[in-house]
Amino acid sequence: MITPQSIEQIKNRIDIIEVLGDYIKLKKRGSNYLGLCPFHNEKSPSFTVSPAKELYKCFGCGKSGNTITFLMEHDKLSYVEALRWLANRFNIEIEETEQTQEQKQFVQTADSLYIINNFSQQFFNTQLFDTEEGQDIALSYLKERGFREEIIKKFQIGFNPSSRDTLASALIKNQFNKELLPKTGLVIAKADGEFVDNYKGRIIFPIHSTTGKTIGFGARVIGKADKAPKYINTPENEIYSKSKVLYGAYFARLAIDKADECLLVEGYTDVVSLHQAGIENVVASGGTSLTVDQLRLIKKYTNNLTIIYDGDAAGIKAALRGLDMALEESLNVRLVLIPDKEDPDSYVNKIGANEFINFINANKKDFIIFQIEMMLKDAGNDVSKKSEVVNTVAETISKINKTEDFTKQQDYIKQCSAILKIDEGGLTNLVNKYKRDKIVKEEKRLPFDDAGNQQQQGIQPEDVLIDNSLLISQDEIVERNVMRTLLESGLKKWDEEKTIAQYIFDELEQFSFESPVYISLFNEYKLMYDKGLEPTAKTFLYHKDENVRNLVISITVFPYELSQKWDEVLEGMNIVNRDNSQQDALMSVNYYKLKKIKKMFEENQQGMEHASFEDQLTQIKIHQHLKEVERAITKLLGTVIIK
Ligand code: CTP
Ligand code: MN
Repeated sequence: MITPQSIEQIKNRIDIIEVLGDYIKLKKRGSNYLGLCPFHNEKSPSFTVSPAKELYKCFGCGKSGNTITFLMEHDKLSYVEALRWLANRFNIEIEETEQTQEQKQFVQTADSLYIINNFSQQFFNTQLFDTEEGQDIALSYLKERGFREEIIKKFQIGFNPSSRDTLASALIKNQFNKELLPKTGLVIAKADGEFVDNYKGRIIFPIHSTTGKTIGFGARVIGKADKAPKYINTPENEIYSKSKVLYGAYFARLAIDKADECLLVEGYTDVVSLHQAGIENVVASGGTSLTVDQLRLIKKYTNNLTIIYDGDAAGIKAALRGLDMALEESLNVRLVLIPDKEDPDSYVNKIGANEFINFINANKKDFIIFQIEMMLKDAGNDVSKKSEVVNTVAETISKINKTEDFTKQQDYIKQCSAILKIDEGGLTNLVNKYKRDKIVKEEKRLPFDDAGNQQQQGIQPEDVLIDNSLLISQDEIVERNVMRTLLESGLKKWDEEKTIAQYIFDELEQFSFESPVYISLFNEYKLMYDKGLEPTAKTFLYHKDENVRNLVISITVFPYELSQKWDEVLEGMNIVNRDNSQQDALMSVNYYKLKKIKKMFEENQQGMEHASFEDQLTQIKIHQHLKEVERAITKLLGTVIIK
C-alpha cells in the first residue's frame, strides 16, 4: 500500500497539462487548453483541459475527469497503477505502508501458487510431447481433431499421464509446499497423507492471466466423456477466480484492440481453433453466463462484443442472461448463432477460415433486435404476450443509460417501435418510466447538473449540453449547490467574523444530507476544516472513494460543461473571476433549508391525521413555526432574486 504522504506528494506534483500533453497536442485557449479528444474520433477539437481545476472535459463525447482518471481510462491502469505511473513520471519515491500479516500471507501464497502452476504447466508440456503415452494418446487425439503443433505450443496445451501420481510425485520431489498443493486443484491429498493426481489421463489447457501468467487449468478427458465430467477446472484460490477470467484474453488482447471487436465463444477448443484459423480476437466464457467482471475486462479493449454461440436453446438462454449487464456497461452487443449441432470449433474446421468469417459477418445480429424477434415469434397472436414483449424491450432499452449512448437509445426506440408496430412516442415514454424507476430504486448518482444555476446565470437552453443529468432530482440539486459553494468558496470570508464554510456549518447544523456520498464528503470536509487543513475541491479530486471523486469532479467541472460559449463570453468581458461567493452561499443555503422545511412540512402533515389531541397541539405549533421559517426564507430569497 502506498502511504498517504506519498499519495499527497504525487497529487501535489501532478501537472495535468504536462501529463495529458504527452498524449494529446494541446493548444492554449484563454485560461484553458484545447485538443483533439483521444476517446472518440473528431476533426475539430472539443477536448478541454483546465489547468486551474486539474480537470478535462470533452464536449464531443462527454468524457471528463482528472489526471488519474485519464490514465485509468486511456491506459487501462488501476487507481494504484496510475499513482505509481505518475510517481515514476515525476521521479517521486513511493513509500509503502507495512502490510498486515494477512496481506503478507496472501501475497506469499499467491506467489507460491504461480510457481507451482508454472512448474506444472511445463511438466504437462513435456509429458505431451516427450513421452510415449503423451504422443500416442494425447497428441494424436489433438491432431486428429485438427490442432497443429504450432497452436498447441502457443496455448501451452499439455497432458497429465494416467498413472496415479506422476505430477504429484514430481511436485513433492521438487519440494513444493505440501500444504499449498491441494489449493491448486492439480493434486488431491488422501486421508493417509498421500498425494495423487487430479487430472489423470487428461489434456490440459492452461488458463492465463491478462499478463500471461498461468493462473489455472482446464482438464479435458480424452475422447468421449461417459462416466467422468468432460472438464475439471481449477477451484477458486488466491490467484484464480472463474468469474473474473476469460480464457484466451492474454492471446487475444492485441487483436481485440486492433479489430475493435471481441468475439466471445463458449469453450477452450473454440478459442484455440479460431486462433489456428487466424481469427485471434476471441475469448471464451467457459460455458457459463457472462459476469460483470468479464464484461469490464472486455470493455478495457473494445466496446464491440460479438457473441458466437451454438444454436441450441441452452446456449441462447445463457447468452441472453448477459445482455442487460452488457448494455449497462455500454457495450454494443451482437449475436451470431452457429447452425445445427456445431460449435465454433467444429464449424470452422468444417467450412474453413474464410467461409467462417463470411458467415459471422453476414449473420451478426444486433442483440436487442434479436431478442425482440425471438419473443415476437413466441408470442404469436397473443395480445397480452405482445404487451409483455413491449415492456421487456422498453426495460432493456432503458438500461442503455450512459450519456454518450443517448443517440443509440433513440435509434433503438425508432427501430424497435417499427418492428413492434407501436407509436415511437409511446415507447419513449415507457423507456423513460423504466429509467425513472431505476433511479428511484438505486438512488443512482448521475453526473453533472443543473437546472437551478443555469437559470440564475441567464444561460440559454441551447447552450446547455443535454444529458441524463436532467433526471437529477430537485432534492439533489439543492444539496449539490451547497456542496459546490463549500468546495469552491468555503475558505472565503462570509463577513468580518467567519468564513463561508463556518456560515454553512452554523446554518445547516440541524439538517443533514440525504445521500451517503454527500454525507461523507460533507463530514470529511468539516473534519479537515476544523483541523485547519483548508480543504478545497482539489483536496478531494483524488479521493480513494470513486463515488466521492466523481461527485467532486461533476460539481467542479460545471462551468465548462455548462457552456463553452458562456465561458468565452465571460473571458472576453474579463469577468471570469467575478466573485459572487457570498450571494452563492446565501442562496444555496437558503434554497436548501427551504427544500428541507417543505419536506418536514409534508411529513408533519401526514402525522397529524392519526395523532392524539396533545400531539396535535404540539404539531400545530411545529407547523406554525415551520410556516414562519418558510416565509422568512422565501422573503430573503425573493429580495435577493429581484436584486
Ligand atoms: N465446461 C466445463 N465443465 C464441463 C463442461 C464444459 O467447465 N463439464 C466448460 C469448458 O470451459 C468448455 C465449455 O464449458 O470449454 C464449453 O463446453 P462444451 O461445449 O461441452 O465443450 P467444448 O469446449 O466444445 O469442448 P470439446 O470441443 O472438446 O467438446
Ligand atoms: Mn466443441
